[in-house]
Amino acid sequence: MTSTPVPNTFSSPQNLFTSSNNALDQTDTVSELGIFLDSHLSPSVAKELIVTARALVGPRGRGIYATDESPETMDALFRAAERDIEEQGLKVYSDSEKSERRKEWKKDAYEVLSSEYISGVILSFETLLEFNLGQILTEKDIIVGVRAHGELAPLPASPFEFIVQGLDNLLPQLQAARAAGARFSKWRAPIACTSPALELPSQVSLDIQAETLAMFAAISQEAGLVPIIEPDVEFSADASLERSVEIHEKAIGMIYARCREHGVLLEGTLIKPSFPQPGLKHHSRSTITPKDIAIATLAVISRSVPAAVAGVVFLSGGLPSSVAISYLSAVNALVNSSSAPSPFSRLLPLTFSYGRAIQGDAIKLWVRGEKDSMKANLEEACQGCYKAAKGE
Ligand code: 13P
Repeated sequence: MTSTPVPNTFSSPQNLFTSSNNALDQTDTVSELGIFLDSHLSPSVAKELIVTARALVGPRGRGIYATDESPETMDALFRAAERDIEEQGLKVYSDSEKSERRKEWKKDAYEVLSSEYISGVILSFETLLEFNLGQILTEKDIIVGVRAHGELAPLPASPFEFIVQGLDNLLPQLQAARAAGARFSKWRAPIACTSPALELPSQVSLDIQAETLAMFAAISQEAGLVPIIEPDVEFSADASLERSVEIHEKAIGMIYARCREHGVLLEGTLIKPSFPQPGLKHHSRSTITPKDIAIATLAVISRSVPAAVAGVVFLSGGLPSSVAISYLSAVNALVNSSSAPSPFSRLLPLTFSYGRAIQGDAIKLWVRGEKDSMKANLEEACQGCYKAAKGE
C-alpha cells in the first residue's frame, strides 16, 4: 500500500469532496440521532460515522460495489478474461501499460454507476490516491471507501490459516484516504471452515482475526471512516451447512466481544459476512437451495450481529453473479415474508458489497473492447443486486 505520511492524530481535512450523503450540520448532536454515546469519539465524529453508515445501506436496495482488488489481482483478472478469448499468444504489457489499463477499466466502470443502485464503492489505495478517481464517484453522490487490510502472512501455529497484515501504519494511511475523500473502509479477514474432523478454523486464528478486526474498526473510526468488518468464512472445503453456521456464529460473536473492549461505536459500523453455505467438497453442495441459504443466513445474523450495527453487506465470495443475486434475493424475501414474533422480521438492512458478482462478466466484455456491452452488463448487474436487496 502506498500513502503520504500525515500526523498521527485525528484531523478534519478542509478539502473534502462534497456529497449530500455525508454533508453534516456540525451543530446537530448525536442525541438527535437517538444514539447513547458512551464511546471515546467526539459527538461530531460519531454523528458523521452514523450518518455515513446508514447512507451506505439505505434507502433499501442500494448496496456497495467492491473494486478494491490489489493491482496484481486486477492484472490477473484481465489476464484470465483474455485467456478465454485469445487463441494465439497473450499480449505482454509493460508496468506502465498495466497501470494505465487498470485506471481505464476503473474509469469506465465508475462512469456507468448510478446512486440509484450503488451507495458506495470500495477503492484500492492505488485507485484513490494515485489515480484520483474518487471524485467521479462523489460527483454522483456515491460514497467513496478504501480497502484497509494489507497482505496475508502465514500463521505459524496453523499452516493453512493466515494473519492479515496492515495494522501498524493504519491510522495515517486511513487519514490520508479520508483527506482524499474516503468516508468508509473495509478489512477482510479470511476464516477457514472445514468439517470438525479437519479442525479448522483453529481457536488461535479465530482469536487473532477477532482482535485484528476490532482494532481495525477502532482505528478506522478514529480516522473518521466507517469500518466494514469482513469476516470471510470460506466455503472451499468439506464443511456442512450446519458447520458453516456454527463457525459464522462463533467468529462473529467473538468479533463483537472484542469490538466492545476496543470501544467501537457499533452504530457507525457495517459487517460484511459471507453467506453460510456447504463447502464445495460437501455432498449437499449441489442440492442446496437459496431458501436453505436464506434460513441459515438469517439465523446467523439474528443470533450474532448486535441490533445496533447499521447494516449487513454480504460479500459474493466468487459465486457466479446469478447465484449471489439469488441468495441475496432469498434472504430479503424471507425477511419480507416474516412477521412478529419471528426474529427475522426485525433485522437490520441486508444488502450487498459484491465485487466479482457485479463485474465478473463486465471485465470479460471490456478486455474484448466491447465497451457498450460491458456498460449494459455492469448496469444490469447493479440493478439485479438492487432488486435482490429488496427481496424481488
Ligand atoms: P467478492 O464479492 O468478489 O467476494 O468481493 C468482495 C470483497 O470485497 C472481498 O473482500
